[in-house]
Order: sequence, then C-alpha cells, then structure tokens
Amino acid sequence: MSSNLCRVSGKPLVTVLDFGMQPLGNGFLSRSSLSEEYFYSMSVGFNNESMMLQLVHQPDPEKMFHDQYAFYSSTSNYMSRHFADFFDQVIKSDYLFGDDPFVVELGCNDGIMLKNFSKKGIRHLGIEPSINVAKIANYNGVRTVSEFFSEKLARKILEEDGMVDVFLAANVMCHIPDIMGVVKGIKCLIKPKGVVIFEDPYLGDIVSKVSYDQIYDEHVFFFSALSVRNLFSLVDMDLIDAIPQQTHGGSMRYVIAHKGAYPISDAVEKLIDDEKAMGLDQIETFVKFADNVKKSKEDLVELLTKLKRENKKVVGYGATSKSTTILNYCDIDARLIQYICDTTPIKQGKLSPGKHIPIVSYEKFKEDSVDYAFLFAWNHSQEIMNKEHDFISHGGKWITHVPGVRVV
Ligand code: SAH
Ligand code: TMP
Repeated sequence: MSSNLCRVSGKPLVTVLDFGMQPLGNGFLSRSSLSEEYFYSMSVGFNNESMMLQLVHQPDPEKMFHDQYAFYSSTSNYMSRHFADFFDQVIKSDYLFGDDPFVVELGCNDGIMLKNFSKKGIRHLGIEPSINVAKIANYNGVRTVSEFFSEKLARKILEEDGMVDVFLAANVMCHIPDIMGVVKGIKCLIKPKGVVIFEDPYLGDIVSKVSYDQIYDEHVFFFSALSVRNLFSLVDMDLIDAIPQQTHGGSMRYVIAHKGAYPISDAVEKLIDDEKAMGLDQIETFVKFADNVKKSKEDLVELLTKLKRENKKVVGYGATSKSTTILNYCDIDARLIQYICDTTPIKQGKLSPGKHIPIVSYEKFKEDSVDYAFLFAWNHSQEIMNKEHDFISHGGKWITHVPGVRVV
C-alpha cells in the first residue's frame, strides 16, 4: 500500500465512503494468475481544509503502471478527435512563445495528444511510465521518456530541455499520489508566462451523476475548482481559467499560471460560486453522495437479479477500469453478467478483476443474441450509440447506472 499518498493539508481526512476490498481497476488477469490477484482496502475521504475528496490509501503506482498497462488511449476515436481539438486550442492560444516553444505532457499514453504537436514539428516531451504504451508513442514520432513524473525528473528536464511553455496533462493529475511533488515540479519547470493546462473527471459531475465508478485505485483525487485552486496556491500559482468538457462523463479543464501572470477569468469565480452552492466544500454533501451510491448499488442488483429470474441474457459493454468498482462493490459476477466485450486486444481472453467475468472480443458481441447490455463505457455513449443501431433494431436494450439505474 502506498505510504506516499499526499494529504494536501495538515488536517486529517474524514472517511465518507468505504468500498471494502477491491482489486486493481485495470487488473485484468489470465486464469493462470488468479492466485496472485492483488486486493486492497478502498475508501474515500474528505479534507475540509484543502476541500479535496480523495482515496484514503492507494496501491503502489508500480503495481498499476508497468509494461502491461491495459488502457490504450487511442481505442476511442472520439478521444482522438477531442485531443486534436485540444491541440488546436493550444496552438491558437497566446501561450506558445518565441520560435521554439516547448510542450510537455504528463501521462501521454500512446501519444494520442502529442502526436499532433509532433506532426507540426513542435518541440515536445511525453512522460509515460507504462512502457508498453510509451513504446507506441515513441513509434508514432512522439518523444517520450518512460518514467514517473516527480520534482527530480522536472529538474532533469529543465537542465536538458529548458523551460516549458505549456505543460499538459489529461486524466493523469488525479492519478498521482505525490501530487505535491508534481505541483512543485511544474512550478520549477514552466516559464514566467507559461501555463499548465490539465483536465480530469470533475467532482461536480461525479456527485450529481452518482458516477461512483470513477472511484478506483488509479483515481486518487476527485478535483473541483475549489481544491485545484487551493492545491496550486501552495506553490504561488493561480487557477486562471476553467472550461467544462464532455469527456469521461463530465470533466473540467483547468488552466494554471504563476501568480499574477494573467488575469483570473470570470468563469473561475462563477464556477467556485456554483461549487459552493452545490456544497462541494461541505462534508455533508459527500455523506449524502455515499447514501446515493448505496441506493444505486441496491437498484442495480435488484434489476440484474430480476432479469436473471426472467432468463434474459445480460452482458457488459466495455471492460472499463470503472466497471471493476461497480462489479466488486455490487458483488456482480458471471451469473448476472455473462461476459464483457471490449475492443482492446490486451483485455480479450482475460478475466475481469475480482469477479472474473470473461472479457471477449467485440466480434463475439456482434454475433451474439443479447437481451441487455450494461454500458460500462457510458462515458463513450455517443460514440457507441452511433455504431450500435443493429443491437437496438434486434431488440437489444441498454442498462446504465448514471445518473440512476435504468433500462434505456
Ligand atoms: N492522457 C491519456 C492517458 C490517461 S491514463 C488520456 O487522457 O487518454 C493515465 C496515464 O498516466 C497512464 O498512461 C499512466 O501510465 C500515466 N501515469 C501514471 N502515473 C504517472 C506519473 N506519475 N507520471 C506520468 N504519467 C503517469
Ligand atoms: P475508458 O472508459 O477508461 O475510456 O475505457 C473504455 C473501454 O471501453 C476501453 O477498454 C475500450 C472500450 N471500448 C469498446 O470496447 N468499444 C468502444 O466503442 C469504445 C469507445 C470503447
């Protein structure tokens, strides 16, 4: 268990939600490795000084990010387009200086975003500890170093490549237990007028959609503008803008700069007011969220048990890391969900973490006659609905749990 899980303030965390023992979200395993499966105690706490909702413990990062990392960013065409748009916005911004700007991306995975910079000949560096995906990035022309980001690595980059104009991170800041190390590394790396632009699943969406499946080993922090502002204020940096995103079921893009370098946009003040109105600074909000999560579990188990009694064929769609939390927290196994289809080759033929539901290819789902498909990849619903007309026209129905359990 990680001992370096950062508490962003000196005050203790108050546990609000306990999921019991959980396997790794991306810990898809073969039959021969069942006996080695790793479990840890997963719970979520709130710190009312930093206003951070976060995991209380996290497994060691090396257990999650290695040469067999199961998540390949480019499996989603929608996300490829999203990162191409992200790139366009950076290029059109005023944040790239001089004739040789330098862009760094944390957690670049297979190069889904940085390949756009590489194609335009912009000097860049990806930091990606999972070697299998880092190799793909390098292969695609993205200069990538396979290491965990830290203050030490930041100083090395500074020495070898100089200061950074734009420091990017998508769906990774929330993964890093030593978040203060990251923030200090960023502080020393970026130019006086440089910026950090990062996006992560947004706490406001998680609470309002009861999307508790965003909680798993890799997601340590559930950020809000309130907690991001507090976090960066510790190194004299300002949250200067916040832009909501549709991705991953509702995300927020944060723009951060050295204190006083840029004016703070009205959007930040408005978002912070909205967050206070929603109670994201109050522990009671998360106690209520925990009640909603328990209700969601009861409703889901009731629905799946009813369908089982009716002899319906129910399968899962998308072996997401999020599905691991749902299946293990709700105690759902192959008696209720026969298999999960997924387009990622490394997951196919394996078993789901903890509940050991078989992961099969997408082709198997296409050929099969299925009554209900649980949309575990609900964050990609637009992309999936666009290609699954046949499933519906053959009488198939979707099950979702966000914002409430229902058949769609
Ligand atoms: N940015 C991509 C990938 C997100 S998954 C996207 O949005 O699709 C998170 C990625 O961060 C993984 O590829 C993981 O290996 C990487 N990662 C985890 N811890 C890291 C760390 N300390 N420093 C840099 N990258 C890290
Ligand atoms: P994510 O929610 O963490 O992005 O993971 C999505 C998973 O769903 C990933 O394993 C790929 C899979 N997937 C499909 O199987 N079919 C699809 O159409 C899409 C978009 C994703």
